[in-house]
Amino acid sequence: MYNYKTGLEYAIHQDQLDELSGYREQFYIPKDKNGNDWLYFTGNSLGLQPKTTQAYLQQELDDWANFAVEGHFEAKNPWMPYHEFLTDSMAKIVGAKPIEVVIMNTLTTNLHLLMVSFYQPTKTKYKIVIESDAFPSDKYAVESQLKFHGFNTYEGLILWKPREGEELLRIEDLKNILDEQGDEIALLLIGGVNYYTGQYLDIKKIASLGHAKGCMVGIDLAHGVGNIQPDLHDSDIDFAAWCTYKYLNSGPGSLGGLFVHEKHAYNKELKRFSGWWNHNKETRFNMRQPFDVMPGAEGWQLSNPPILSMAAIRASLDLFNQVGMNALRKKSKKLTGYFEFLINALNNDSIKIITPSNPEERGCQLSIQVQNADKGLHKKLTEVHIITDWREPDVIRCAPVPLYNTFQDVYYMVEKLKEILNEE
Ligand SMILES: Cc1ncc(COP(=O)(O)O)c(C=O)c1O
Repeated sequence: MYNYKTGLEYAIHQDQLDELSGYREQFYIPKDKNGNDWLYFTGNSLGLQPKTTQAYLQQELDDWANFAVEGHFEAKNPWMPYHEFLTDSMAKIVGAKPIEVVIMNTLTTNLHLLMVSFYQPTKTKYKIVIESDAFPSDKYAVESQLKFHGFNTYEGLILWKPREGEELLRIEDLKNILDEQGDEIALLLIGGVNYYTGQYLDIKKIASLGHAKGCMVGIDLAHGVGNIQPDLHDSDIDFAAWCTYKYLNSGPGSLGGLFVHEKHAYNKELKRFSGWWNHNKETRFNMRQPFDVMPGAEGWQLSNPPILSMAAIRASLDLFNQVGMNALRKKSKKLTGYFEFLINALNNDSIKIITPSNPEERGCQLSIQVQNADKGLHKKLTEVHIITDWREPDVIRCAPVPLYNTFQDVYYMVEKLKEILNEE
């Protein structure tokens, strides 16, 4: 479809044609000792820092210095409603309605808070389905939920696995699990984009299969947010959670995001943990009020949130708002397709891409499986400041991020890969 070519001229020309090329300038890109930019392919782990972030943080530091506690109302961006300034942009990025989204806490914490509401096991319907290669934190979280409710994790945890000799998940295998054990399953908690393989699952289909068996359906969007366009509202899933430090470039350990579908927004009967921040904001400061839960995703907040972290998220979301997910996704498909084309053109048996080749079934990440799980390749790339990550047991994950990676980044990365592979 793109008629990719192997030479450097092609990469240079594509960068010239790229309407988003100007955005790279808006990020700090680490440099080697000769002043050359690193080739940074780990936006799926920690995104680069936008140059505007400092000013957004400085604004809040200045307002803290100048207004102290009065900053809650007097700051240029008053802190009391600060999280609301993030909601519309965040909702657009994940395809949700504003009432369905809030920025708060971190990802694993949010998964637990959501499971308090959406994992309500009974003696006979208590099992949880996750992918066999789910991110460890998600696995530990669901295991601990099972134990917390008095269930055995061996019986309670169902792993949706790839078939023998395959790497990717098949939706028909999830259907088989649900056909066989659906009456005993309370919750599906699935990574929308799998962190290891980069596979983007059909979350709408997962929701309809799960709901047909009376299960709740939650999605971990850590590797999807800012990468693919998940249309959370239309997918009809019950809940989702994500972090913002990967593709959303909000800085190490920054706050996460949470989605609760509108169909649950006004259900005051849902069990949940509470604090003063999910109490009705009109009467929050009257104190001594009986608890009155807020509607929508805000009704899962507990505490007043860290403004400095939210300021960094705001800087990044403002950039996303300018670019728009349609333009980002369009470039992303072309850039990752180019990366795949160049790797395949190496025709080298010691590496294999395990990420789906269909662009609709992946985001920007390609997972390269290395024969004999040889970590040397990853080490040699890192030594020359080509930053990828190694994931046990045998994969190098590389994510050309459309906001700041170029066709030339990809070209030079694969040239180096070729050189290293030929040395061996
Ligand atoms: C898929 C997935 N789940 C959970 C986590 C844990 O996130 P946190 O440390 O913010 O809870 C990560 C972090 O990278 C992740 O990628």
